[in-house]
Parts: sequence; structure tokens; C-alpha cells
Amino acid sequence: SLWQHVPQGLKSPPGPRGIPILGNVLELRKDPHLVLTRLSKKYGDVMEVRIGTRPVLVLSGLDTIRQALVKQGEDFMGRPDLYSFRHVTDGQSLTFSPDSGEVWKARRKLAQNALKTFSIAPSPTSSSTCLLEEHVSKEAEYVITKFLQLMEEEKRFDPFRHLVVSVANIICAMCFGKRYDHNDQELLKIVNESEEFGNVAAAGNPADFIPVLQYLPSRAFTLFKDFNKRMIDFMQKILKEHYETYDKNNIRDITDSLIQQCLDKKEGNATTQIPKEKIINLVNDLFGAGFDSVTTALSWSLMYLVTYPNIQKKIQDELDQHIGRERRPRLSDRGSLPYTEAFILEMFRHSSFLPFTIPHSTTRDTVLNGYYIPKDRCVFINQWQVNHDERLWKDPQTFNPERFLNAEGTEVKKVDGEKVQAFGLGKRKCIGEPIARWQVFLFLTTLLQQLEFSVCNGKKVDMTPLYGLSLKHKRCEHFQVKLRYPMKSMS
Ligand code: HEM
Repeated sequence: SLWQHVPQGLKSPPGPRGIPILGNVLELRKDPHLVLTRLSKKYGDVMEVRIGTRPVLVLSGLDTIRQALVKQGEDFMGRPDLYSFRHVTDGQSLTFSPDSGEVWKARRKLAQNALKTFSIAPSPTSSSTCLLEEHVSKEAEYVITKFLQLMEEEKRFDPFRHLVVSVANIICAMCFGKRYDHNDQELLKIVNESEEFGNVAAAGNPADFIPVLQYLPSRAFTLFKDFNKRMIDFMQKILKEHYETYDKNNIRDITDSLIQQCLDKKEGNATTQIPKEKIINLVNDLFGAGFDSVTTALSWSLMYLVTYPNIQKKIQDELDQHIGRERRPRLSDRGSLPYTEAFILEMFRHSSFLPFTIPHSTTRDTVLNGYYIPKDRCVFINQWQVNHDERLWKDPQTFNPERFLNAEGTEVKKVDGEKVQAFGLGKRKCIGEPIARWQVFLFLTTLLQQLEFSVCNGKKVDMTPLYGLSLKHKRCEHFQVKLRYPMKSMS
């Protein structure tokens, strides 16, 4: 209720007053991460706004966020029951559903294990270190060939459209054991239109907080529902194929391993408490989370590289020095490429392309920094604020990879790297973080070893972020690449 009883000696978090019925919704209409960052300077790291009649707790500041998500992790690990979230994976999503009890815990563990087995665990069947390395190398090589072909044919191109299919193919290989053609319409209809998902699932969507809006026609919402339906249909078809060809002696991919979990649900097994359909549809969460964020990371990387050609050159010098041109980059090179690592950290920090985590909610009444927070309070975690906080960063608006390096430029400052907020913290932290970081590293280094990126003469890329679940940039059709040295066929 609006008039919560606050226990004696405690106070409610401060915040802007807002207008009746709508609360602060009008102020939050555009770029809410920036508006809430500005408001946090006035009201502090623990602040309350109202969206419609619903209070929302907004957390800023690295220490406050660590306190809530790590030290008081159990209190803050819930998800709010939001109208839009009920449409994701039939309301059964690991990521978006309000479940945060034992079933969620067991599902999360299962998804984590399946993901690991088919990505970074040492592979008995692959000549690479692990399956992830094999898939990323292969897809990055494919994109290089594609970019060069587009240069021959058109002299310029939009990289996003091709990156997204290659990145989707990496997670498809792990989840479904197959890759798709770059012109596969069914896959393109999903991966090339993920904004239709991100526009509605973004933190602060008014329809999630003002119920009357759910009854008004909305084009964005129709597109969102259609997108979720296409995802489910896509998954159902693949599941059917997998069941028909399933062989318990040959577990081919994540889907097979989840089928296996369903089939031998035994006593004492972690899966006993999970209903079957909630095992199998985990693949939907992995696939959905797996392509959009990594593509967005790579796409922002390319935008920074063409905007700062000297930074691109420095990465290429580092690659030439440590890897040379006789072999391709491998995951094991990561420790010896500090400048490249610093660039990736700075891309995550400066773009903050996931400005908020997925919304949290409190699982019980709690106290944070002396403020009383009741159970079931919706919580926004402002990652953008942390990444641009003047208390943590010198000249936060400047793109400067060197801020993460020691004076000699030989080592990444680990403590500073850990301040960058991109994957969340604590119990709800992204389960794909390690594989996402490996993917971005290997994909980028493979591209940059061979290609130099630029935009056509007289053109500039538009870096203005467009708000959504993830911040995108406007697509740019004016990218160009040049082969850095004659291509040799390598195996
Ligand atoms: C959740 C970031 C890639 C799977 C999240 C969250 C963030 C995030 C911010 C929400 C954390 C919270 O609510 O506090 C990213 C970024 C990625 C990335 C920046 C790439 C650069 C991936 C990949 C996968 C994945 C590759 C799996 C294949 C998940 C899942 C959740 C999640 C399943 C939900 C966890 C839960 O609710 O318990 N991610 N992610 N992510 N991510 Fe990622």
C-alpha cells in the first residue's frame, strides 16, 4: 500500500515528489538511466521514485550496490512480477519470472552446468582447447570472409546484421548443435529484431507500472508478444527434432543434456524438484540471453574502433607483437594482451550498454544504509551511474582504455576492472559472464588481427545511445574493411 508502516527509528528512502497518479513517469520518459543518475546526486545512493502509483527503489554507488546485492544478497535477489515479464517464455523464464525460491535455484544451477559443459570445459571431441574456442574462431573467420566479400560487391556495409548471425550461431552451436545460414529467414526474424524485445522489457516501461496502459493498443507491445511467440515456436521445433533423434549415449548439445535431465529425474538429484517443462525451456533463456548482449558488445566495440583509429592501431600492434601473423588468436592469449583487455573493459564501462540490470525485488522487509525497505519492493540497479561516477573515475565521459593499465602499460589493474558494472553482482549475477568475456575477446582479436575497420570518407558514426533493455547505436551502413596483410589459408 501507499502508506507503508515504517518501523520506529527508521525512515523511508528520499526521492522526488512526482505528480499524483503518474508519479515520476513523465520525467523518466527519455533516457531514464541519465535522469536517475542526475536525481541520485540530489537524493543519494538509496532513492525512491514512483512510476505510476508504484514505488521503485533505485540503487546507485558501487558500495551501496555491493552492500545490497552481495552482503544482503538474499534480501535483494527477487524479481518483480511485471506485466511484460509474464510474456517471456510463457511466464516461465529463469531470468524474468518472479520465482526466486528453491526451483529457481535448482534451475539456475542446471543451466550453469549445461552451459559450462558445452562451452569452456576441456573438450574431449574438439581439437581446440574447448568448444567455445572452436565455435568462436569458426564464426569470426566466416564474418571476415563475409565482410571482404561485401567490400568487393558494395564497397561498404552494415556490420551489425552479420555480427548478430555469427554470434547467434555460437550459442546455437552450444544449445542446438547446429549453425544457420546468414540468410536463414527464420533465424534472422528473431536475431535481427531483438529491439522488439528490448524496447518493452527495458527497466521503467510505463505499462509495467500503470495497469490501465495494458488495456490500450500498443504497437510496441504487439511486436514484443510476436517476438516471444517466434522464440517459443523456434525452440519447439528444435526440441521436437532433438527428441526424435535423442541417443542417451551421445549427448550432442545443451538441449540433449536438458532432455537427459528430464528423463532421469532420480531421488536426491537436483532436478527432482523442477517440473519437466521448466528444465527443457531453460534453453530459451540461454539462447535469448546469449546472442543479443554479446552482439551488442561487439557492435559497440567496432563503433569505438572506427571512432578512435589510434586505439585500433594500438590493439593491432599488440596482436602483431604477441601473436604475430602466422597463427590465429586463442583463448590462452588473453593474459598477454593487456591493452586489448583494457579496451574491452573501457567499452563495457563507457557504453554501459546494459544501463540497468534486470529489475530486482526484495524478498523480505529489510534495511539498507539505514533506510527501511519493505518486502516486494521493485528495485532498479543503475549500472550506468556506477560506470560514470566521478567518485570512481577520472573524466568518466572520456573513452580511455589506458585508465585500466599500470604506468608501464604492461598490466591491467584488476581492482579497477572489477568496478565496471556490466553483469550484475551476487545471487542474480549473469551466469554467462565468463563465456561472454571469452567470446568478446576471441571474436575481436580474430577480426582485428586480419582486418582494419573504418568508415567511408566524409561519414561519421552516430554514437548516441538509444534506450532499451540494452542501449543500441543507430545502425551504420558505411563501414569499410581492409585486409591488413595477404590472407593465407590456415587450419
Ligand atoms: C542475467 C549481462 C551474456 C545468461 C544477466 C544480467 C546482466 C547480464 C546485467 C542481470 C543481472 C541482474 O539481474 O542483476 C550480460 C552481458 C552479457 C551477457 C553484459 C554479454 C556481454 C550472457 C550469455 C548468457 C547469459 C552469453 C548465456 C548463454 C544470463 C542469464 C541471466 C543473465 C541466464 C539470468 C540470471 C538470473 O536471473 O538468475 N546478464 N549477460 N548472459 N544472463 Fe547475462
